[in-house]
Amino acid sequence: MIDWKIKDNLYNPDNVAWHGNKFLTGNGYMGVRGTLEEYTKEQLVAVNLAGMYDKVGDGWREPVNAPNGFYGYLVVDDEIVKLQDNAEGVDCEEHYIELDYRHGVFTRCTTFRVFRGNITLKSSRFVSMDNVHAGAIKTEICADFHADVKYVFGIDADVWDINGPHFDIIKVNNDGLLTVDAVTHEKNYNVSVAEEVKSDFPCEIKDEEELNKALKSVSFITDVNKVYEIERFFAVYTSLDCDRPIEKAKEDTARIAEAGFDKLLDKHKEAWEKLWKYSEVIIEGDDKSMEALNYSLYHLHSIAPRHADNLSIAARGLSGQTYKGAVFWDTEMFILDFFLMTEPEVAKKLIKYRIDTLEGAKKKAAEYGYDGAFYAWESQEGGVDACSDYNVTDVFTKRPMRTYFKDKQIHISSAIAYAIGKYTHMTGDDSLLTEGGAETIIECAKFYYSALIKKVNSDRYELRDVIGPDEYHERVDNNGYTNRMAKNTFRLAIEVLENEKYTSHSCKSGEQIDWLNNENVREQLLTQFKDAFDKIYIPKPDSDGIIPQFDGYESLEDVTVEEVRSRLLDPKEYWGGAYGVASHTKVIKQADVVTWLAMYPHDFEMKIVEDNWNYYEKRTEHGSSLSACMYALVACKCGMTEEAFPLFTKSATADLAPGGKEWAGLVYIGGTHPASAGGAYMVAVEGFAGVDFKDGKINVNPRLPKNWTKMTFHISYRKTMYRVEIEDNNVTVKDVDDVNSMIA
Ligand code: BGC
Repeated sequence: MIDWKIKDNLYNPDNVAWHGNKFLTGNGYMGVRGTLEEYTKEQLVAVNLAGMYDKVGDGWREPVNAPNGFYGYLVVDDEIVKLQDNAEGVDCEEHYIELDYRHGVFTRCTTFRVFRGNITLKSSRFVSMDNVHAGAIKTEICADFHADVKYVFGIDADVWDINGPHFDIIKVNNDGLLTVDAVTHEKNYNVSVAEEVKSDFPCEIKDEEELNKALKSVSFITDVNKVYEIERFFAVYTSLDCDRPIEKAKEDTARIAEAGFDKLLDKHKEAWEKLWKYSEVIIEGDDKSMEALNYSLYHLHSIAPRHADNLSIAARGLSGQTYKGAVFWDTEMFILDFFLMTEPEVAKKLIKYRIDTLEGAKKKAAEYGYDGAFYAWESQEGGVDACSDYNVTDVFTKRPMRTYFKDKQIHISSAIAYAIGKYTHMTGDDSLLTEGGAETIIECAKFYYSALIKKVNSDRYELRDVIGPDEYHERVDNNGYTNRMAKNTFRLAIEVLENEKYTSHSCKSGEQIDWLNNENVREQLLTQFKDAFDKIYIPKPDSDGIIPQFDGYESLEDVTVEEVRSRLLDPKEYWGGAYGVASHTKVIKQADVVTWLAMYPHDFEMKIVEDNWNYYEKRTEHGSSLSACMYALVACKCGMTEEAFPLFTKSATADLAPGGKEWAGLVYIGGTHPASAGGAYMVAVEGFAGVDFKDGKINVNPRLPKNWTKMTFHISYRKTMYRVEIEDNNVTVKDVDDVNSMIA
């Protein structure tokens, strides 16, 4: 059995950025990177806020980092004692950081060797899952001599920004409570933090001054080997939460300080236990897999926007500002299943974000001359597309390269329709459809309909000049994944239009919409979508059984991934685009045809699925963390558990193991990988356990990895929570009250 803790015993400044992600704590409202409290923006400290964005000058619009209420450091005998100062010294006797990923508690413990002896600083901290605005930290100080200690602490508003600074005004106050009231550049949002300290031993509390920090200090002389505890509490509120966030932050801080650290911690842990009740996956016989998988789920829980109705999950979660804090197809195609199966209310919120941003998607479609809804490739608030025309910088010329992700990855809209369909099917709850989902599906179908192309002498419809999931091949025709997903969008739209319940219901905005109220328009759309569904071209396997990823793929140069890599003149060179090393070859960035097969394994006979897996896997760089899980999932469906296993491990350890891409030139691009975490869950439950849903029944066809002697988990299906146990390929599926047993 696992102990639900990860630990690092070595202080290595080279790991500071990676550990910031690996040891992240979060509660959906804010994510706090796993950095030490004495760290500042140089060590990429971030209290990353969900759903608040800011733009400065020509820089990318990105999410805002709040002032850090966990800031603090020690001064012993008048010497500042910080770990970063000791990077190359010998002053640190012992050091570890630890994350309890069952309960989202981060602990650091460092014993510093100072002139007169050893002094240990141990602190445990969390941002509350019970009250998402609150954070608390308990610091214990113990010296083996009579140390003259000053512990400086407070709120650091000199935050880390990639394209900032985002705060135009920073008001700092340390009368009574510590407070920082900062105002963002673009929209003048207030981001307010208040902080309170508690200590129950004789000490002197003084104000301290440093630019853009609200600080105080606690001073005392230690008894030998006596432990001194200091508790601190902070609350963060913004203008998106309420009218006077600073007042709310103060009130909340006073209230939580009154309750005390231990009480808050208990409530926080209780909230986490509630989450694990139905989401934990128990794997007997393979602790490493159980740890990696549940650690992945920990990250998903930490970034789930449970507190809001209109937020989704960003591609790098709440680990910072990389990927502009934007929402990609990652959420619908990779992350959604975990929430659908364990906490459908969260799945609903994620999809509601898309329904709420329909107007942005319609606007984007109109800008490109299409009808309907073309969703943002990198979606920020209101559905604005944050993706730039030049997303990559050429390493040789240092010039921005024109990339077409935003213009051509039209498969994004199909992911939204797919998610609404899946939610409705899995939960049996059609409220999303009546709350704007039906309208969203129809608008997505209208978009694809307006993008269809037909040659005069042909009977089929095509989607040309697109980019599929594999971003290395830009502007191709008839990407199989895209066409197949568009076909599914037409199917969903037909289902909606044929159901009186949805068409007679008023749309979300309450406006009169043609297809809702006008029989003729509805009939016309139905005819169009049926025609499109029948005639959209879906690539077929060639004589060797291989489905071409797009038109002409078969005639590209057939070389290995290693050969393509060896052609790089610079390790940071971009593989795609007009002159990329992969562009003219069959080597692809990530699962593409295989993502199609993962979604629709029954489109072809199993032999074809297996042949395509073998063909494309060899030609895939896995240059995106979204790739391995799709290959693993399809391998499971083909009964290739052994092939699936390393790919599952790769997905489940994306944030646990070193080696993720962290820097592009001087720009930090690292962060957590929620899609990979969600993909690992899909592989475990839908792949190894073989869960799928048909005709109102749960089917379980396990193909567990060889060391997994028993697997136990829960799945929510049609408003009932079931417990699934698989042991020696015997399956039991029972509802949690043990009342009804569901025969698999
Ligand atoms: C991948 C996309 C993905 C994005 C965000 C890119 O590298 O190619 O498929 O949506 O990262 O995770």
